[in-house]
Amino acid sequence: MLIKQKPSWYMPEHLATPEDVYFNRRQILGAMGIGAAAGVGIVPSLASAAIEGFPAPRNAKYTLDRAITDEEEATTYTNFYEFGSSKNIWRWAKRLKTDPWEVVIDGMVEEDITIQADALIRKLGDQEERLYRHRCVEAWAMAVPWTGVPLANLVKFAKPTAGAKYMQFETFLNPDIAPGQRASWSPWPYTEGLTIEEASSTLPLLATGLYGKAMPNQNGAPIRLVVPWKYGFKCIKSIVRITFTDKQPVSYWQELQGREYGFWANVNPDVPHPRWSQATERLLGTGERVPTQLYNGYAEECAHLYANMPQDRTLFF
Ligand code: MTE
Repeated sequence: MLIKQKPSWYMPEHLATPEDVYFNRRQILGAMGIGAAAGVGIVPSLASAAIEGFPAPRNAKYTLDRAITDEEEATTYTNFYEFGSSKNIWRWAKRLKTDPWEVVIDGMVEEDITIQADALIRKLGDQEERLYRHRCVEAWAMAVPWTGVPLANLVKFAKPTAGAKYMQFETFLNPDIAPGQRASWSPWPYTEGLTIEEASSTLPLLATGLYGKAMPNQNGAPIRLVVPWKYGFKCIKSIVRITFTDKQPVSYWQELQGREYGFWANVNPDVPHPRWSQATERLLGTGERVPTQLYNGYAEECAHLYANMPQDRTLFF
């Protein structure tokens, strides 16, 4: 996230743990037999293939109040801190191998599931394209055609058990190909969370593509979240694990800087980030400044989710 001054938790790259002594949780869990395959009830398919079905039919219900962002802008100005803190990491992200791509669904579900991303998407129904605004907490914005399936379909597929309230999403962990993950002060892997109620509403997508094509690596291939009324950091990329739980997950950014990045993170022009205003946003491509909208303009679809909660700033950071 835009770090203008070095925060208290910042450590220069040369002080970070060298790669060869990096604690690779995945390898260790694997060696202990606690990895993805342990205790799994269903393994529908371990054969892999790239996700297909592009371009998917556009859902005409979702329209924009602005022009679609230029494709080159949206695919070369990206946030993917695993590959570095610059926006220009798209070449680095090409190193990520996204096929095969195993996804684990676990926690408070009837049975753990380990499944290849393409098989998972086929099980979740027809893919569609939707035009959504996207608002980064750093105050830049874009409007793009995402392809994907409703996240609500994944909730049904996962069969959460009665007490489950939240979903935690996790990105891959592989410092060998993602140099940003060599910074040991950072709580990798990247994680994010939603309530099951949020995830089951109409807008969130498990996205597989952008501009009518398979998702570019730098935008979060092969599967990522898109939740258009929340700040973009909630839209976790390159998901490998989805865990259902009764405890509110603590996300990557919350762990780094809890005073600045909260769980709810709903867009609101009147609640400034501690270090900058959220009143306006800069459109990628044109550089035009436009007013920020409450819930990024999606109040009609999402405000009901928060009707019974305190209407204070905690909902918006
Ligand atoms: N997911 C992971 N794994 N790593 C990241 O650094 N950045 C987030 C989000 N998802 C990020 C991530 C932020 S801050 C934003 S604004 C969006 O991805 C950016 O999505 P885009 O690069 O496709 O525009």
